[in-house]
Amino acid sequence: MNKDDVLNLLRSSRSGHVSGAALAAAMGVSRTAVWKHIKTLEREGFAIEAVPSKGYRLTASPDVIVVAEVKQGLVTKTIGKEIMHAGEVESTNTLAMNLAQKGAVDGTVVVAESQTGGRGRLGRTWTSPAGNLYMSLILRPAVPISKAPLITLMGAVAVASAIRKLCGIPAGIKWPNDILLSGKKVAGLLTEMSAEPDRIRHIVLGIGVNVNMDRKSLQPDVRRTATTLAAAMERPVDRTILLRTLIAELDLWYHRFLKRDTEVLTAWKALNVTLGHRVTVSGGGAKMEGLARGVDAEGRLMLELGDGTLRQVSAGDVTIMKEKH
Ligand code: BTN
Repeated sequence: MNKDDVLNLLRSSRSGHVSGAALAAAMGVSRTAVWKHIKTLEREGFAIEAVPSKGYRLTASPDVIVVAEVKQGLVTKTIGKEIMHAGEVESTNTLAMNLAQKGAVDGTVVVAESQTGGRGRLGRTWTSPAGNLYMSLILRPAVPISKAPLITLMGAVAVASAIRKLCGIPAGIKWPNDILLSGKKVAGLLTEMSAEPDRIRHIVLGIGVNVNMDRKSLQPDVRRTATTLAAAMERPVDRTILLRTLIAELDLWYHRFLKRDTEVLTAWKALNVTLGHRVTVSGGGAKMEGLARGVDAEGRLMLELGDGTLRQVSAGDVTIMKEKH
């Protein structure tokens, strides 16, 4: 029994008030222990009124993710059985890699309110103020290393599907794993792996979703090409429900991936906004232009160059040019 249980009891009280004695009895602890949990909740930003004859009443909640609330009604096979929540961290991916090394179970979710050193693809930084979603997922799939890139595509499918389900807006995927709304980036994924020559030890799938932040927090060059869910919906979006929906979708798609990975590729293709377009791909100082023909079984982009040859691209940044072929 902990402070989250006190919070749940306060939230589910019909009259609003719950006496200290009732809380203590429900939790099987002393009234002093209840009082200590109340004080902890207050330090976290919850406003709790104490009325002598009636007991405690929750009057305001801070906008922080509460694990017990995320888990409410959440039924999954693997993802999110363990959820670890932190306030500010350097990077949830770094934290998750450390936890994975120490033996954290398959499907562990690490979520933070903000990051001081959020990392993006291709060595970029990921601006991470409070108000968004920053999560990393620890996975231990028993699949060959060659299948690892498909995990990122699987994650992109889950993020796009969760946004579509929750917000009813047509999120699309730009190769390999940028989630776009009307051409602007709303979420990104960063996969990191620890492996032996022939075996995956663990994979950390990091997901950053721009939810409620003020777009002014973004660097001006990023601001032009990025958006938030709140901007698209014209109202703030509940991060707890978003995280719950996302975990459910990740669980669904992770198990589809483990059973038959071709299903992930089919879903990725259906959600993608890259294929069939002329694109430029930059990365590692080089830039190529061509027609995005398809993705191969391992998620590489098949780019048709000007001379008609096909080039397999494993990493890079895609810019979509206007006309479709
Ligand atoms: C991208 O460049 O598009 C990938 C961005 C990934 C950001 C997420 S936020 C949670 C996790 N922790 C990190 O440091 N990065 C990822």
